[in-house]
Amino acid sequence: KFPGLAQTPPMGWNTWNTFAGNINETLIKETAETMIKSGMRDAGYIYIVLDDCWHLKERDANGNLVPDPAKFPSGLKALGDFLHERGFKFGIYNCAGSKTCGGHPGSMGHEYQDARSYASWGVDYLKYDWCSTGTRDAREAYTTMRDALHAAGRPVVFSMCEWGTAKPWEWAKDVGHLWRTTGDIFDSYDGVKGWEIGWKRILDLQHTRGDEQTGLQKYAGPGHWNDPDMMEVGNEGLTFAESRAHFSFWCVLAAPLMAGNDVRHMTPEITAVMTDKEALAINQDALGKQGSRALAEPSKHIEIWTKELSNGEWAVCALNTSDTRRAITVEWHRLWHLQNKPFTVREIWSKKSAGETSTNFTAEVDSHDVLFFRLTPKK
Ligand code: DGJ
Repeated sequence: KFPGLAQTPPMGWNTWNTFAGNINETLIKETAETMIKSGMRDAGYIYIVLDDCWHLKERDANGNLVPDPAKFPSGLKALGDFLHERGFKFGIYNCAGSKTCGGHPGSMGHEYQDARSYASWGVDYLKYDWCSTGTRDAREAYTTMRDALHAAGRPVVFSMCEWGTAKPWEWAKDVGHLWRTTGDIFDSYDGVKGWEIGWKRILDLQHTRGDEQTGLQKYAGPGHWNDPDMMEVGNEGLTFAESRAHFSFWCVLAAPLMAGNDVRHMTPEITAVMTDKEALAINQDALGKQGSRALAEPSKHIEIWTKELSNGEWAVCALNTSDTRRAITVEWHRLWHLQNKPFTVREIWSKKSAGETSTNFTAEVDSHDVLFFRLTPKK
């Protein structure tokens, strides 16, 4: 894979969660313009990714993929130029099978040709899916596409989307820059809809999938990230508290931060959450460590996750798991990662000091909301 890319979790926006196949160049341009105005681009959301259904159902006579001219009348080179001129990077989607999940031509057997098309359009990011793959081996399929991107010569962030079925965390460090660890998310706290699940359920999987003892955190680092799926922050099925908590946990997981909402119609509160500098600094911390669950106490309606940061600092995220607003107490001495060292504490969403770790911290928290802390070692 191309070295030096995605040294911190990639950030951007993807069409799928809100628009599915209903995409076109006006939507992409309006999204880009809005992301500039709202401060999202400058906060770091630079990859704008077209997901499934951007191309026609048949290749052309030469076997090339054809962008749907009804959706993208100016063509994808022009769209890539539009994005690049505005400081964004251009992302696209395809699939390791004969067809994409949406039934459009996949790249199986056309990897090198498709990679050349992407390079000619100025593509900087490829999300590569796993439908219609038959008996294909995931490692072979993703390695072939990686090599094809290399041969085409334009640096591309390679986002693997085989849903964790072949445990990519064990072998894909030199193949992709990020790999999905789950099936699809939808805009729910802990619901299930077919194979789609809410973000709290993904959090639970994230801890156990692959390795019951330690979870997936040991496999993440600069240039190679676990991807618990794109965000549903700001979407209808979540309360404000659930959106904010979802975002906080994706920061703690060192997850790729791909927005999946309609940024043209987001509330100022959601914009403030997604562009919060202190929260993003936790996600983008240069050490590149993925956080993990430190404590879960259903009887006390609390679950706490910790993430190690550079310079001996830590992030701590405490979730109110109950259906009502209630007082949540964080007992610092019970978080064994912190080894009882003394820290000063700041709570990120209230923008206030939360004292020191020598004293427990208690606050009222809405249902499914979090307290989100940054801990700095005492001098
Ligand atoms: C399945 C993936 O997991 C989704 O994120 C999305 O890319 C769809 N396929 C598109 O068909």
